[in-house]
Amino acid sequence: MATFCLLTLLIAGVLSSLELVGCAQLSDEATLLAINEEFGIPGWGFNGSDFCSWPGIGCDLSNSTVEKLDLSRRFLGGNVTLISDLRALKRLDLSSNNFHGLIPPGFGNLSELEYLDLSMNKFGGPIPKELGGLRNLRALNLSNNLLTGEMPDELESLVKLQDLQVSSNHLNGSIPSWVGNLSSLKIFSAYENGLGGKIPDNLGVVGELQLLNLHSNQLEGPIPKSIFARGKLEVLILTQNQLNGAIPEEIGYCKSLSNVRIGNNNLIGNIPWTIGNASSLTYFEADNNNLSGKIVSDFAQCKNLTLLNLASNGFTGSVPAELGILGNLQELILYGNNLYGDISLSILACKNLNKLDLSNNRFNGSIPMEICNVSRLQYLLLGQNSLKGEIPHEIGNCVKLLQLHIGSNYLTGSIPPEIGHLKNLQISLNLSFNHLHGPLPPELGKLDKLVSLDVSNNQLSGAIPPDFRGMLSLIEVNFSNNLLTGPVPNFGPFQKSSNSSFLGNKGLCGEPLTLSCGSSSGPDREGYHHRVSYRVILAVIGSGLAVFVSVTVVVLLFMMRERQEKVAKAAGVPESETSDLPTIVAGNVFVDNLKQAIDLDAVVKATMKDANKLSCGTFSTVYKAIMPSGLILLVKRLKSVDRSIIHHQNKMIRELERLSRLCHDNLMQPIGFVIYEDVALLLHHYLPNGTLGQLLHEHTKKPEYEPDWPQRLSIAIGVAEGLAFLHHVAVIHLDISSGNVFLDANFNAVVGEVEISKLLDPSRGTASISAVAGSFGYIPPEYAYTMQVTAPGNVYSFGVILLEILTTRMPVDEVFDEGVDLVKWVHSAPARGETPEQILDARLSTVSFTWRKEMLAALKIALLCTDGIPAKRPKMKKVVEMLQEVKQN
Ligand SMILES: *[C@@H]1O[C@H](CO)[C@@H](O)[C@H](O)[C@H]1NC(C)=O
Ligand SMILES: *[C@@H]1O[C@H](CO)[C@@H](O)[C@H](O)[C@H]1NC(C)=O
Ligand SMILES: *[C@@H]1O[C@H](CO)[C@@H](O)[C@H](O)[C@H]1NC(C)=O
Ligand SMILES: *[C@@H]1O[C@H](CO)[C@@H](O)[C@H](O)[C@H]1NC(C)=O
Ligand SMILES: *[C@@H]1O[C@H](CO)[C@@H](O)[C@H](O)[C@H]1NC(C)=O
Ligand SMILES: *[C@@H]1O[C@H](CO)[C@@H](O)[C@H](O)[C@H]1NC(C)=O
Ligand SMILES: *[C@@H]1O[C@H](CO)[C@@H](O)[C@H](O)[C@H]1NC(C)=O
Ligand SMILES: *[C@@H]1O[C@H](CO)[C@@H](O)[C@H](O)[C@H]1NC(C)=O
Ligand SMILES: *[C@@H]1O[C@H](CO)[C@@H](O)[C@H](O)[C@H]1NC(C)=O
Repeated sequence: MATFCLLTLLIAGVLSSLELVGCAQLSDEATLLAINEEFGIPGWGFNGSDFCSWPGIGCDLSNSTVEKLDLSRRFLGGNVTLISDLRALKRLDLSSNNFHGLIPPGFGNLSELEYLDLSMNKFGGPIPKELGGLRNLRALNLSNNLLTGEMPDELESLVKLQDLQVSSNHLNGSIPSWVGNLSSLKIFSAYENGLGGKIPDNLGVVGELQLLNLHSNQLEGPIPKSIFARGKLEVLILTQNQLNGAIPEEIGYCKSLSNVRIGNNNLIGNIPWTIGNASSLTYFEADNNNLSGKIVSDFAQCKNLTLLNLASNGFTGSVPAELGILGNLQELILYGNNLYGDISLSILACKNLNKLDLSNNRFNGSIPMEICNVSRLQYLLLGQNSLKGEIPHEIGNCVKLLQLHIGSNYLTGSIPPEIGHLKNLQISLNLSFNHLHGPLPPELGKLDKLVSLDVSNNQLSGAIPPDFRGMLSLIEVNFSNNLLTGPVPNFGPFQKSSNSSFLGNKGLCGEPLTLSCGSSSGPDREGYHHRVSYRVILAVIGSGLAVFVSVTVVVLLFMMRERQEKVAKAAGVPESETSDLPTIVAGNVFVDNLKQAIDLDAVVKATMKDANKLSCGTFSTVYKAIMPSGLILLVKRLKSVDRSIIHHQNKMIRELERLSRLCHDNLMQPIGFVIYEDVALLLHHYLPNGTLGQLLHEHTKKPEYEPDWPQRLSIAIGVAEGLAFLHHVAVIHLDISSGNVFLDANFNAVVGEVEISKLLDPSRGTASISAVAGSFGYIPPEYAYTMQVTAPGNVYSFGVILLEILTTRMPVDEVFDEGVDLVKWVHSAPARGETPEQILDARLSTVSFTWRKEMLAALKIALLCTDGIPAKRPKMKKVVEMLQEVKQN
């Protein structure tokens, strides 16, 4: 039937389209069946149901032709060329899948198409010029792919286009001037590409341009005034380019302009006074340019202004008093300019002000007593100015402060004890490089959330008050270069600091300084160490049955491994003698073009050298093997605990072959195997960047690799996508841990040990140990009762990884109390009265507002995933969606 119809279609192809009508219905059905053959879409199939009712399909019901096809977010991969046979399509959405290869030129024949979304895939190569045939297209979204080359001129015929999105690709060349001729264009976004040249100066002359987002390219030349010409622009984002010239006065034509982000360019000149005409402005960010002149008071007319960031420019003069009427202003960021004068009292009238950053200017008055009349102030950053006078006692009224930085000024007098009232102070308190004298007020000891304290380079005297041991969150301290005396109090954060934090105080003694205070404190510290190790043991025993079970498993495995290794060592003298290589019973390389490059004997030999050992997992030891061909492999030697695998050799080989075809960018596939004696070796591509566990917890070895938040978030999304795909194909992972997440050359996450899950799947009777539970700290609590790893159990383990990423803490760590692991520690934070900020890695969460917001959102997801009740945890697929939302917002 289907073949018949395809034939008809072929013949019909040469006939006129009118004669085609009779077959159109059948041909669409045949095409859909073929598409289903290719992708296996759940809910599709020829089971008597009308294909128009299959999920994702919309038909014109009068003649049953497919007009809409929505296959978004389905983890699909494969050849999408067939879709170009659905000639009546008006709307095609393939976004958020794993499609790769070229965009089929045949899509250009879908002449009815009005909406085409191919975003969030891995389509590569150039944008096909055939897409110029889509004369009815209104929205084209190709963003988030791997597209290269220039935007083809053929697209100039898409005159109906309203929405053109090609962001986050590898496009180069310049923005073609035909974009400026699209007379209906409302949205144009091409950010995160390699586009150079000038922004065309006809862009916006015709049409209704509302959103222009070109950030993170290499664009040069001026911001063309044409984009403001029709006065419709609402959002303008040009951050991170090499734009020069001045901000056009025409910006004032845009009464609806709400968002302007033009930071990190080479813009010069003043901000035009016409900015006051852009009365909808809520967000104006122009930091890191060469702008100069005064800060125009006309900003005061933008009543909705919420953020004004002019940092790192050449602005002079004072902060205009008029800005005080901006009742919505939340962040005023002016650091790194040449501003001077008093800290204007009027600015403190902005009752929603949350962040005031005037640091690194030439402000020279005193800190006004009224500074804390702005009750919402969370960030007060006045460092590196020429402020004089005393710190007002009223500073204690800034009860919401998270960060207070008034270092590097000429402040005198003593530190007001009222600073101890700032109970929320947590990011840092910096009073360094001033002329402060007198004692350190013991009240500061009440700042139990404070992470960083710097009072260095003043003339502070007296002892460091023992009360400072109340600063329970302290990580960084600096008391250096003062007149302090007496012993450094016995307090973890102090003794763990380097001695430079205390140097330059002639009268201080005790650890970490080399000068001892006379009386020995040695025995006390030993007692402390004993207590610690005791606590670790208690923690291990105390943290519940699940952990106990897993400890037993781990210990057993560990003992077995040791024994194995001893035997291997005893017998291992002939390590270098190739003649003693064991006979390979079975072996294969699944990937054809690698067959030549892999020498199975060399693989076996590599695993016999301890020097090649990379890591040791729950179920396998991992080796690096360099082939004579130069190819580097990662070889996993399964622990021989699982002899049963060998006994099910054929089954195992079948499973491995199946797995090798299970393609997903975030999963490590086997590329071959070797079996000899009772040993099984699995071959994989070598990933140069180690594991996520190493990246997070061993970065001290390579501080330059310390991952930032966006990188961590992408890794988390990668892991989630890999697991969601596994669950989609009904595979449960048995050992999810940060040690089993590998990082490829681009630091993309690749989940490993997948095959273990297949080979040891207890329900298949191939597992010899029923106590397979995964790695310590990642085991879901229900495992203690069910002894079964389930999909929700995987979600729990993923939640633990996400917490690791957010906190940079190990899943089990002696710093937690008895019986507490990372999950419990995080879940019980509210009960301890701790804020999320104390949980998150403060080195990341304090970097920017955006990072902090995203981290809090990710923390929420991690809490959902680690819910004690399996049924309450979200599905892996949902987790992917939620994390992607975090990234997009
Ligand atoms: C056909 O498939 C649809 C979609 O999965 C399903 O709802 C329907 O029950 C199936 N019909 C038959 C007869 O199996
Ligand atoms: C199906 O019907 C609609 C209107 O009812 C028409 O616009 C369209 O061209 C028809 N499609 C085919 C392939 O005949
Ligand atoms: C996809 O299938 C078409 C035929 O339907 C073929 O011409 C094309 O080469 C295939 N593309 C890929 C990437 O396999
Ligand atoms: C588009 O359609 C034309 C005419 O039907 C045909 O010649 C051409 O091969 C098609 N293009 C593709 C890429 O399928
Ligand atoms: C792609 O762009 C279209 C048109 O603007 C939009 O509706 C769609 O949501 C975008 N796709 C994704 C995945 O963001
Ligand atoms: C653009 O990229 C393509 C391929 O990615 C390359 O061949 C071409 O030289 C590049 N063009 C420019 C102007 O850099
Ligand atoms: C844009 O339109 C103008 C006026 O219609 C025309 O002169 C110019 O050639 C067009 N540019 C492109 C690149 O199509
Ligand atoms: C600013 O707005 C006023 C009144 O709406 C108008 O007269 C003036 O021309 C505008 N100026 C600019 C430069 O947009
Ligand atoms: C300011 O914001 C409010 C609320 O979003 C909105 O209703 C109002 O129109 C905005 N004012 C201007 C001038 O855009």
